[in-house]
Amino acid sequence: MEHLVRSTVGKEENNGVHFGPGTMSAVENPGTGACESQMGVRMLVRMGRRSCFGEQEHRQTPLKEAKLPVIWVLGGPGSGKGTQCERIVAKYGYTHLSSGDLLRAEVQGGSDRGKQLSAIMEKGELVPKFVVLDLLAEGMLSKLNESKGFLIDGYPREVAQGQDFEAEILPCTRILYFDVSDGCMTERLLNRGKSSGRVDDNEETIKKRLNTFHEHSKPVIEAYKEKCVCIPAERNPDDIFADVSKALDAL
Ligand code: AP5
Repeated sequence: MEHLVRSTVGKEENNGVHFGPGTMSAVENPGTGACESQMGVRMLVRMGRRSCFGEQEHRQTPLKEAKLPVIWVLGGPGSGKGTQCERIVAKYGYTHLSSGDLLRAEVQGGSDRGKQLSAIMEKGELVPKFVVLDLLAEGMLSKLNESKGFLIDGYPREVAQGQDFEAEILPCTRILYFDVSDGCMTERLLNRGKSSGRVDDNEETIKKRLNTFHEHSKPVIEAYKEKCVCIPAERNPDDIFADVSKALDAL
């Protein structure tokens, strides 16, 4: 994981780049070797993607040949994605890759980039999309030989992430969307926040996470509605899982 992330964004980190809105001092362009300065996040994203392309061919091929199902697991913050993924893993043996967990692992590493990611997560915003895409690609490749399929939890968070994933990794087979009201999600997260230690499980950040969800992530459901199974998820976890199983058994 570390290697692949660095292969795409390491130069930015080495050059003191910040992911946030007020980007950056100077950075070496991985495509040309030229030094560019004062570029915004958008340029960083494009650079990240461009730098992926050399490896992309290699990483796509074994994933494509394996022909495993890829399930995107979507829903607002606290909608129960992680809870249901645990059950799916136990029943179906799929490999669970949570974008939030992968990012928190980066943060735990204590690098400068980890600190920048943590600051973005604390604000309830989305981290640059190439960061997540590379973490997922690396995670999928590392589990390929033992996997029966992939549960991609918390991704895509915006339509462009879905387009990138399908173009650069694999088409998605099915989407599970857990539909929960803002009030219920807030209550669950505040409750979890009493013991989770997560920087984003507090009232202020939960509001921002919900805004980000409505603005950026909800449109994913509309954009991919033909692949999406919408599951009412303000019920007990067993009843929700019965619907999840129906959707997965039909694959
Ligand atoms: P992430 O870690 O993905 O957080 P999230 O989407 O906000 O969701 P959670 O993990 O908090 O909740 P969940 O839906 O898994 O619910 P859970 O099962 O835990 O992302 C964190 C941050 O990382 C983002 O804000 C963003 O900054 C960044 N990020 C992540 N992915 C990104 C991406 N693709 N692009 C850019 N940035 C990204 O359940 C929650 C609680 O409810 C638990 O206590 C649980 O026990 C309880 N519960 C679950 N189900 C039920 C039920 N049926 N009834 C009662 N209680 C329940």
